[in-house]
Amino acid sequence: MDLSGKKAVVFGGTSGIGLATAEQLAARGVSVTVVSRNPEKAGALPSGVKAARCDVRDRAALAALLESLAPFDILVSAATGGTRALGPFMEMDLDGYQASFDKLWGYANVVRLGGKHLSPTGTIVLVSGSPARRPRPGQVALSSVGAAVEALARAIAPEIKPRRINVVSPGIIDTPMVAAQGEERAELYRKMTASNLIPRAGTAAEVAKGILFVIENDFVTGTTIDVDGGWLLS
Ligand SMILES: NC(=O)c1ccc[n+]([C@@H]2O[C@H](COP(=O)([O-])OP(=O)(O)OC[C@H]3O[C@@H](n4cnc5c(N)ncnc54)[C@H](OP(=O)(O)O)[C@@H]3O)[C@@H](O)[C@H]2O)c1
Repeated sequence: MDLSGKKAVVFGGTSGIGLATAEQLAARGVSVTVVSRNPEKAGALPSGVKAARCDVRDRAALAALLESLAPFDILVSAATGGTRALGPFMEMDLDGYQASFDKLWGYANVVRLGGKHLSPTGTIVLVSGSPARRPRPGQVALSSVGAAVEALARAIAPEIKPRRINVVSPGIIDTPMVAAQGEERAELYRKMTASNLIPRAGTAAEVAKGILFVIENDFVTGTTIDVDGGWLLS
């Protein structure tokens, strides 16, 4: 896809991986709308980027927003959706486990309600996470949600051709998703990545480069690209 003059909607585009994606798309001449529940959190947006407010779990509001933005060429969702349950499954609060799937429902809503407004050469990108295919202890919820996201994209790809859909799967990435600051934050990332082939947290920009790759490359659909510092082999 030649990005120049194209139109994109990036859910979860006001922070972290989504924001970095919006910045890279805008720098390539794409007109971008970033969407989240509290878009003001993004601060000053680069030129070519507008913001809109919507919760991806609210289907009526989402349908109305997508209608107002249509048509578009690029649909990205990096919206976390809701809360994430962590810890051993046999001790897990089952409501918390179920709530973790808000990420999947949000993605499903975006694809189902946004896909119909996508141009014939349009493309969709979702974001899963390394635990989908290599969970570490305590990551049952992250793993099952991420695996469902990757399966969703694989299953939808043949149905929406010639439009394309892909997933990018990040490892540990330094974004505002982690609240800790200063030395506590640095120590957390050191611990979480110590055994990785590339022992550091990735940046949101590095993941966004993976997202730009699957957007631009017209020969890629129905697959998952890992940007994970070697997590899967660690
Ligand atoms: N960071 C990592 O280490 C990592 C690793 C693996 C996978 N991932 C995945 O990568 C994606 C992006 O993560 P990130 O690290 O960039 O997180 P982030 O910095 O916390 O950004 C999440 C974005 O999603 C938006 N959002 C959350 N719930 C939403 C909802 N219900 N409706 C609309 N927007 C919503 C947030 O804005 P509002 O709060 O304003 O709604 C924000 O813009 C997520 O799917 C995450 O699971 C991240």
